[in-house]
Amino acid sequence: MADQPTLLLAKSIVKSFGPTSVLKGFDLSIRSGEVHAFLGGNGAGKSTFIKIISGQHERDGGTLEFAGRELGGSAASLADTGEIAVVNQELALLPHLSVAENIAMPRMHRALGTYSERGARAIAIEALSLIDTQFARQSVGRLVGDLSLHERQLVEIARSLRSGARLLLLDEPTANLTAAETGRLFAVIRKLIAETNLAVLFVSHRMREIRQIADVCTIIRDGKTAVDRASLHAITDREIVDFMGQTVEVDQQSEANADSRSSERDTPGRSSRTGEPIRVQLSDIELDIGPGDIIGLAGAPTGPLTLIEALTGLDHKSHWKITRAGAPVKHRCPSAAARAGVGYISGDRANKGILATLPIVDNLMAAQRIVERKKLARDEEIQRGQNLLDALRIRAGSLWHLPSTLSGGTQQKILVARWLTLKPRLLVLEEPTRGVDIRTKREIYALVRKLANQGTAVVWWSTEYVELVELCDTVLAFDLSGRPTGVLRHTDVNETSLADATGMAA
Ligand SMILES: Nc1ncnc2c1ncn2[C@@H]1O[C@H](COP(=O)(O)OP(=O)(O)OP(=O)(O)O)[C@@H](O)[C@H]1O
Ligand SMILES: [Mg+2]
Repeated sequence: MADQPTLLLAKSIVKSFGPTSVLKGFDLSIRSGEVHAFLGGNGAGKSTFIKIISGQHERDGGTLEFAGRELGGSAASLADTGEIAVVNQELALLPHLSVAENIAMPRMHRALGTYSERGARAIAIEALSLIDTQFARQSVGRLVGDLSLHERQLVEIARSLRSGARLLLLDEPTANLTAAETGRLFAVIRKLIAETNLAVLFVSHRMREIRQIADVCTIIRDGKTAVDRASLHAITDREIVDFMGQTVEVDQQSEANADSRSSERDTPGRSSRTGEPIRVQLSDIELDIGPGDIIGLAGAPTGPLTLIEALTGLDHKSHWKITRAGAPVKHRCPSAAARAGVGYISGDRANKGILATLPIVDNLMAAQRIVERKKLARDEEIQRGQNLLDALRIRAGSLWHLPSTLSGGTQQKILVARWLTLKPRLLVLEEPTRGVDIRTKREIYALVRKLANQGTAVVWWSTEYVELVELCDTVLAFDLSGRPTGVLRHTDVNETSLADATGMAA
């Protein structure tokens, strides 16, 4: 890789949002043919930098060179050439159009002649075939709205390649994928690198993934380059975490790994754990979820979601039988469930979690208002909101800012914060550590353990087996078709047994 030319050279990039200074002279260089991991804690400025080089934000200072050309202040012109393409979490495809239309349309105005369906199809097949010929044939005629997130990502990548992309910016592309989908995405990336000499800038908070796919890394900390193009063979996990400034918590992690499962969960005041468990049943599977338990759900989304929907009042015609002390537990709707003490943190942060048009304080108080059926005096809400921000070390400019001014991981913390002071009887979490950095993960684990110790029963769905192994004493596993396959307990909860029980490799 060393002999490959530098494709992008960013020097001394500066960017502030009002009083918040995010990039303070940040440098990064990318070569053709490499997968470059871009690492840093939540709010470090990764997405901001990506938005600068993809033309979504203007920079305040610094220089950018792409393929030897100096780029002026406005990056928008660069994005328009199509050579730098970004695949965001919020995908930029039109759901009501077909895959062929989505791929062929953007550049149509440059071509002479009118739109032809056959022409579009041919263009799309050609672009998609760079990714996978079978996928090309299967997907070209389908509506984008009917595709999975993973398939839509592939379509976006195909579209950017067709537009002449030489640098692909992938900002947490795997955060919402299953392990199998991540594997397929990585295979596509490797194929493209080999065949087209593309460069990829890749953001992820999962160390294992980073090591699987990336060659080199750049680490950002406090708005500056902490590590510049380190080979991933030459840097340890420990060093990476140090450079990101997240050391302390990892010390806790190794301790936690060693003995937390047995000690932390058994020591807490037993008194808080009294009370009838909730019993969930489906065919021959039966599981009690008692106060203080942290129950993991493992497997592809379909299975765990059926149980989650039944528990949280989203599906009241569920096949799951849910009882407490022999009496059926049924919630008419999610707000009724919330008032009955069921907290729920959806995995779909953008659509079902964050209230995008309301300020941070309203986002923090949302659950409280539903449960208590009232709004507190403004002053009191602000006080409570501020306390939550402090408790979770959430960096926000002001409680009055919109959530869009927060980094992805910080938005996730807001969702968790909602339920903390309410001490729900049951808390259901879908992949709550999606997109959060290593330190914040530890914090969320600690907060959930604390709630459990105070008597909350916790149901935690994760596609990351390491996480289930660390947190849960009992895991309900589902196979790929969504059927529950069994309950694993204690020492049976390990990455191998989880992979076996779910049919999904870690
Ligand atoms: N539009 C905006 N207005 C105000 N502040 C913003 C805006 N966009 C980002 N910020 C702030 O800039 C900082 C960097 O955010 P950014 O999204 O770049 O972080 P990140 O490294 O991508 O984090 P994460 O890993 O959580 O995604 C954060 O403090 C964030 O609150
Ligand atoms: Mg980000």
